[in-house]
Amino acid sequence: MTERFNQVASEWDKGDMRQNIAHAVFQTITSRIALLNNMNIMDFGAGTGLLSFKIASVVKRIVGVDLSKKMLEQLEAKNSPTLTVQPICQDILNTPLQEQFHGIVSSMAMHHVEDTFALFDTFYKHLKRDGFVAIADLESEDGSFHSHGNDGVYHFGFDRDSLRETIEKAGFQFVRFHHAYTVQKGDKDYPIFVVTATKK
Ligand SMILES: C[S@@+](CC[C@H](N)C(=O)[O-])C[C@H]1O[C@@H](n2cnc3c(N)ncnc32)[C@H](O)[C@@H]1O
Repeated sequence: MTERFNQVASEWDKGDMRQNIAHAVFQTITSRIALLNNMNIMDFGAGTGLLSFKIASVVKRIVGVDLSKKMLEQLEAKNSPTLTVQPICQDILNTPLQEQFHGIVSSMAMHHVEDTFALFDTFYKHLKRDGFVAIADLESEDGSFHSHGNDGVYHFGFDRDSLRETIEKAGFQFVRFHHAYTVQKGDKDYPIFVVTATKK
């Protein structure tokens, strides 16, 4: 999977679809969560930083965690003296960061992680008390969303009820789903949610 993201990194930002998703996810997050200028945030699966840089403009600091060096090179190239995202190429499920954040955001990365409980368990450990997650991904789909094939896709979207159960099992409270955007491909609709929750 990482190899595929390395290959497509230089083309990732082209076209409207991913920009539109990032824009809608950012709007949905900010309509639900007050992002403050004293906050440290992690963007999990940040890729080229489409969501991270929007968040960067309103918080103190944001790190973009990803497994793909090439995606993170694209992210790093967008850094400027006034707007910065710190790239971190690390598998945080196996090697956690030595830092806790006020919040963790993510867009379209969760379906690439096989063990969703382990992911939320990892998020929990990386959050300060009362910290939040705001995670965007596809509603359950039939496997047709990824037109390049499903290599590295562990989930064909997510069923809300079972995802809620997983997130609560990891210790989060106030789990809420919000519709963010609908991708249209051919005659099919692929709705995207943002799920928010808080560390107890
Ligand atoms: C579909 S892309 C989304 C990128 C970006 N969030 C966006 O919306 O444009 C998924 C990203 O998640 C990253 N990823 C997948 N599994 C990961 C993991 N276990 N840890 C960190 N990043 C991961 C991939 O390398 C890829 O950059």
